[in-house]
This record gives sequence, structure tokens and C-alpha cells, in this order.
Amino acid sequence: MRTRVIAGNWKMNKDLSEAVDLMTSLSGKFTTVPPGVRVILCPPFPWLPLAANIQKGAHWKLGAQNMSQFDDGAYTGEISWRMLRSSGCEYVILGHSERRQIFGETNDLINVKTRKALTNGLIPIVCVGETLAEREANATREIIGMQVKGVLAGITSSEVVKLVLAYEPVWAIGTGRNATPLQAEEIHQFIRKLLGQMYDWKTAEAVSILYGGSVKADNAGALLAQSNIDGALVGGACLDAASFAGIVNAAMA
Ligand code: PGA
Repeated sequence: MRTRVIAGNWKMNKDLSEAVDLMTSLSGKFTTVPPGVRVILCPPFPWLPLAANIQKGAHWKLGAQNMSQFDDGAYTGEISWRMLRSSGCEYVILGHSERRQIFGETNDLINVKTRKALTNGLIPIVCVGETLAEREANATREIIGMQVKGVLAGITSSEVVKLVLAYEPVWAIGTGRNATPLQAEEIHQFIRKLLGQMYDWKTAEAVSILYGGSVKADNAGALLAQSNIDGALVGGACLDAASFAGIVNAAMA
């Protein structure tokens, strides 16, 4: 049985007091989480040490939204894996489509970051997804295939089972227009088959693949009912405690 993962990507939202309110309220809501479900909060960098404090004893884990490909040194504005580890992070989102589209991250760079995270004890949540133009041009599988192979280059089967993949169609992010459960399942199945070819079937079966893109409490159940959808990467709906808790409840059902 693969672990169900519900991760909340706060993106660049919430000031200090709003962040404390949301984390405190979520800690109160997640007093018990079954062993097969993992809840992860990924607040902005400045709130991480504080989040680690609030998180003590609560049933959620801490993640970051990005990480530098470098270890230490003269890289103004960057955040290293050591900073994340020592702030209490266990997870890190890598290759989010906003990083790809706005900040020019490539599959090669995301691959370097993914390997850096894995060798340094962080669990990467690695994102892939096609744009609307690519979907309309019938290039979804080609693009997703290229992204999956690119970000996983040089990663062994014993490493790949430790990471989490997230399929996030770019046209569904923040648009309120989510993929239907069947559209999402089709691509999740495609990714799992590809993993089977790149590694072996046992390895492919062990990797958790999350869906992301306008996941809400009222559509999470139908998405999570698909056999290859192992969880959700949630943006907008994770900024409100009740709506994020609704998605986590759908994962526990
Ligand atoms: P959304 O964002 O839930 O607001 O669509 C998802 C994401 O970007 O991870």
C-alpha cells in the first residue's frame, strides 16, 4: 500500500501572524492522522523554524517550496538543503510549474536539485505537468515523458522509491479548472508505466504520485478514488484551515 500524501503549498502567501494562526489551527485539526496518511505543510521559508516549533507533537510534517542546487556560499537569496534540514524540514517541493515558468527552471536543474535533496536526507516532491497549449497539441504524454525522464536522470531505483512525484497540469493550477479524475488517472497511469520501463514494476508500484491543480474538499474524494492517484498537492485550498482539513479528511475516508 502506498502512503497517501496531502501536501499544502502555501506559495508566497500569509504574513507572520496569519501563518501562526493557520498552523495553530491546523495542528488543532490534525490531532490524529492514520499511519497510511501523511500531511505536509510547505509555508514560505521565513516561517519554517517557527512552523517546526508549532508542529512539535502535531500530526503534520514540514516541507519547503524550493531549494538551491548548491551547498553553501556566495549565492545571494538562495536557501540550502542544510538550512532546510536544520529548520526541521523533511520534504521539499522541486520543479513546481511556477519555478519552471516564472524562474526558468529546467529539467536538468530540477534533476540536480532532486539528487542534492535525496543525498542530503530531504524527500523531494518533484512536479511535472503540461501547459494548455501542449495538451491541445496532443503533446501531453511526450512532455510528461520528457520531464519525468529528465528530472529522474541518474536516480537509482532505491532512491526513486523515496521521493514523491506530483502531476500538476499547468492549466489546472489556480484556475479552478481541475482535471477530471479520469483525465488525471490516465496521466498517472502513464507515469507509473514509464517508471516501470525506467526501473521495474515493483519500483514503479512503490512511488507515490500526487495530483495537483485546483484540488478542493469537494473534488478530492473523486480524485483520490483513482487507483494511481496517491494524494494531492494543494495550493489555494490549503490557505484556509477548514478547506485543507476537508481535503485531508477525504484522504482518510
Ligand atoms: P492550486 O495550486 O491548488 O491553487 O491550483 C496547486 C499547486 O500549484 O500546487
